[in-house]
Amino acid sequence: MKVLETEFARGFIRMANDGWEQGWHERNGGNLSYRMKKEEAEAVIEELDQTRSWQEIGTSVPKLAGEYFLVTGSGKFFRNVKDRPEDSLCIIQLDEQGEKYRICWGLVNGGRPTSELPSHLMNHEVKLEVTGGKHRVIYHAHTTNVIALTFVLPLKDEVFTRELWEMATECPVVFPDGISVVGWMVPGGREIAVATSELMKKYDVAIWAHHGMFCSGEDFDQTFGLMHTVEKSAEILVKTLSMRPDKLQTITPQSFRDLAVDFHVELPERFLYEKK
Ligand code: 13P
Ligand code: ZN
Repeated sequence: MKVLETEFARGFIRMANDGWEQGWHERNGGNLSYRMKKEEAEAVIEELDQTRSWQEIGTSVPKLAGEYFLVTGSGKFFRNVKDRPEDSLCIIQLDEQGEKYRICWGLVNGGRPTSELPSHLMNHEVKLEVTGGKHRVIYHAHTTNVIALTFVLPLKDEVFTRELWEMATECPVVFPDGISVVGWMVPGGREIAVATSELMKKYDVAIWAHHGMFCSGEDFDQTFGLMHTVEKSAEILVKTLSMRPDKLQTITPQSFRDLAVDFHVELPERFLYEKK
């Protein structure tokens, strides 16, 4: 089977294009990775080049040793993924130590995987452990409204979670574990990857202040839907704050507790604080 005929590649390309259409991927902004299933790698093995040289990941992810990933290329534009997937994307395999990768498919005009590969792989490694392998998708997008909020809200998990939960009734059901925030850091390296993956032990969403968002999920629908829900909620908050600085009415802590019962979700009490 050809890589581009597989369901996972088609789902990946559709998601990249959906993100582009949302306006979250100016130029080469954002990146996407998918941890392939064994049978998915086997199905395309004839198309995978196993002869290219190994390159340093820049961090160590031993629990992902030998795994294959479909990832966006560094400097590649999401806008082009749909029309030029073989130029924009690559399949990489990790070595037996989880310290190096090699390109097995794609990037036909040269290049390397996303500069955020350390963050993607460290997040995948954490999620492999905490979800028992269920999560396969890590998505980074430059979501306009969430970025705007990082200039005006305190950079605290509790504040972002509570404010975004209040903006739409479904939000606590979609992200009951809340939202985490990383203060501004230099992107692309191991340090920000360590900070983000530490938060991914507890959360599926990590905001990078003045930069964007990382989401983790089981499949393309869940992960895109999560990014979309958080960003839409942020858009409502930006609109609300643009009209006036305070709210006349909102969803109260007790309303959230009532919702949690009916929707069978656990909402941590640390997000249901009384506001001064
Ligand atoms: P890449 O083009 O290397 O994926 O970088 C884009 C980005 O969003 C960096 O945070
Ligand atoms: Zn970015």
